[in-house]
Amino acid sequence: MNKESKIVIAIDGFSSSGKSTMAKALASRIGYVYVDSGAMYRAVTLYALRHGLASATSGVEATRLVEALPSILIEFAVQPDGSQHTLLNGEDVEREIRGMEVSGMVSPVSVIPAVRHRLVALQQEYGRAKGIVMDGRDIGTTVFPDAEMKVFVDASPEVRARRRLKELTEKGIPTTYEEVLANVRERDHIDSTREESPLRKADDAFVLNNDNLSLDEQLQVLIDLYRKITAK
Ligand code: DC
Repeated sequence: MNKESKIVIAIDGFSSSGKSTMAKALASRIGYVYVDSGAMYRAVTLYALRHGLASATSGVEATRLVEALPSILIEFAVQPDGSQHTLLNGEDVEREIRGMEVSGMVSPVSVIPAVRHRLVALQQEYGRAKGIVMDGRDIGTTVFPDAEMKVFVDASPEVRARRRLKELTEKGIPTTYEEVLANVRERDHIDSTREESPLRKADDAFVLNNDNLSLDEQLQVLIDLYRKITAK
């Protein structure tokens, strides 16, 4: 492969497996664009919550949400520090989409086929020019089945819950370890058993278990893999 030619890198894994941190670090190191596909499902969920189309007590009103899809515009805005914020109809919702309310409703929203079709089409559009690192659940299987580099990130639920608790506490979002662990387990179950694009490892994905690896060590593994693939 020509050294200059850019590839598509798909990173999938369970929630809070650290894949976003890793994907972001990799993209920044190799000068690629990073896209957080989970943020897109979260933004649709926030829209549903705000418009009375979803609630913890009555679930999701799928038909009305699907009707509303054309009025949901999702974009990413690069911040001066290089980080990316998610915009919902022009409003910066980066903080709100990470809270427990959205986390508690995002899996039922993301099982709706029309929601997935719309977001997958948008994600494929982002990948057209290549030079992209995208993370999610179905990136190597459904969004970019032909991605040149696929990684499946694995970590135990307890390790992931501790990471997520730290992340939320640092952001000043109040919660407990038990609540976070229950949410991680529930999302694992819904994400991997849903009918539409369930979370599963692509046959040709490289598996990275990061229970006992630092971010630097994980990044090194990915860079080595990237070099090997692009040197071919
Ligand atoms: O990566 P995350 O935890 O922010 O993702 C939030 C939710 O979005 C996750 O519970 C499942 C859903 N999701 C999905 O169904 N497909 C993707 N490609 C990314 C996320």
